[in-house]
This record gives sequence, C-alpha cells and structure tokens, in this order.
Amino acid sequence: MTFPILPEQASKVAEQTDNLYWGLLCASAAACLVVFVPMIYWLFKYRCGKPADRTPRHLPQNTIEITWTLIPTVVFMCFYAWGAKHYFVIERPPPDAMDLNVIGKQWMWKIQHPEGNREIDELHVPVGRMVKLTMTSQDVIHSFFLPEFRVKQDVVPGRYTTEWFKAEKLGTYHLFCTEYCGTSHSRMVGHVIVMSPAEYENWLVQGHPSETLAASGERLYRELGCSGCHEGKSIVRAPPLQGVFGKPVPLNNGEVVMADEAYLRDSIVFPAKQIVGGYTNDMPSFVGRINEEELLEVIAYLKSLGGSNPQPSAE
Ligand code: CUA
Repeated sequence: MTFPILPEQASKVAEQTDNLYWGLLCASAAACLVVFVPMIYWLFKYRCGKPADRTPRHLPQNTIEITWTLIPTVVFMCFYAWGAKHYFVIERPPPDAMDLNVIGKQWMWKIQHPEGNREIDELHVPVGRMVKLTMTSQDVIHSFFLPEFRVKQDVVPGRYTTEWFKAEKLGTYHLFCTEYCGTSHSRMVGHVIVMSPAEYENWLVQGHPSETLAASGERLYRELGCSGCHEGKSIVRAPPLQGVFGKPVPLNNGEVVMADEAYLRDSIVFPAKQIVGGYTNDMPSFVGRINEEELLEVIAYLKSLGGSNPQPSAE
C-alpha cells in the first residue's frame, strides 16, 4: 500500500517501515477516538441545565481498572515486539551484502567502491543487491538519510556506523544529510542511482579505477611501513594480520574482541587501546599520518587477506 504523503517505497524495508508507521498511527487514532467521542457526547448530554439522569452509580472499580490497564498494555506491547523485530532487521547488515564505504565531510559525501571507483554526492548501486555502507566522518557529525529506503544513520567522526538497504526498483532517489553540520548543511545532498546489474558493471568499468580499494590499501600498508613489523621475517614482533578480519582476538588484559572494521581502525589510530595477547605496545599511533579514506583502504586490504565477515552484533 502506498500513501501519497510519504516518499516512494524503493525497498522491502521501506514497505515494512511504513506498515509499522501506519499501524501505530491507526492504534493511536483508535485510542484517541475511544477517549474523545464519549467525552464530547457526555459534554452535551450532561450540559448544565439539561434534564439528564444524574444518579451516582457504583461500578466495580477493580474490573474497570484492570480492563483499561490490560487492553492498552497488550496492544502496545504488540507494537513493541513488532518495532523491535523491525529494528533488528534494519540494524543488522546481512553478511553477504556488497561493501561500500561512505565518508562525510563538510559538505559532501564521498563514496568508495571495492573495485576502486570513487564518487561524490552520488551512489551508484545495482538493483536487487544488498548494500552495506560503512560510514565515518572526517569532521563533524553528519547523518546519512535515504528517504525512499527509509534508512537513516548518524555518521560520526572517530567511529564506524553502518547502514544497509536493498533497492528493489530502478531509478534515482534522494540522499540527504539530516544532521545540522554547518553553513552548507542544506546543500549536502545527492542521489542514489539504482541500475540494472549489467549497467552497474558497465558503470564500474567506465570509471576506469586505477586500482581496487584493497590494492590502494596494500600500497599504503607498505608506504606507511606496516609491513615492516607485521610480516613474517620482521625483527619487531607484531601480530600477523593474515585472516584476522572477523576472528576473535584475545587481548593482553584477558578480554576477547571481534576483529571488525572498528577494531582494525582503532588499532591503527590508538594502538595502545587494545593490545593483542602476548605482545607489547611498540606501535606508534598513525593519527595525522593517515586520513579516513586511507584508513578504509587499509582496512579493505586487511579484509582481502582472508577471514570472514563478523557476525553482526546488535548495538
Ligand atoms: Cu552534513 Cu548536515
């Protein structure tokens, strides 16, 4: 069902979100009617001077209390369950989704494709494929909003947030920043272009990317000297990074953390924060030597070394 007052539904999730929204609206409207219709009726019926029967009546108090507590509780708990179920769908990117990166900055959106294509304020995706966005900001908080897909997520400096969607229809859709981020916030807008898989392949090739994201990452990995310590024959002992992505990592303090994108990012920027079990902290921080785009490239390289997608956790 579509209602002209909402944006077009370009995904299954959009449809489900709208159903929940209309369900809540109908339940609220019904609750409103139950209160206001009798109220207005009685207002007229017992108006001052009207000859109505005003004999006090004694109703069973407990029955009334229990009924009007129980019925709304059950109804609204059903909405809670419905909403929670939908929330988990939205918050957990499917593990087999296509991985794209988004970097927000005043005032533009930069997108990285694994094949090496880069774009600004435009996001080209194939129809029918699940797309997972790993997002971060290089300055202030932005928010990545795709109204036709009903997904919106803050994009925060210093951490990764994710968002996923699956376009079901070809077309061009809106992309907005929905967090006030300075003078040109209102111009931090763009488009999502949903193409057929063949057109998308074509678009990737026509972009002539010089190297894949993982290859750019590998180049940086060598240039920044990471390979000097993290590879086999090195003198300085550093944990090997082959296949580390998506695996649990035991730390020096006894904790075990999942090697996801955020862990890899933190290990590059704040190496002292989480030290791998059996190692000492000999690594310098790379703050100021690597930017957000490059960090995502190095992470793409580390992911390409094997490992698996970590099981999504609900935050
Ligand atoms: Cu970026 Cu508002």
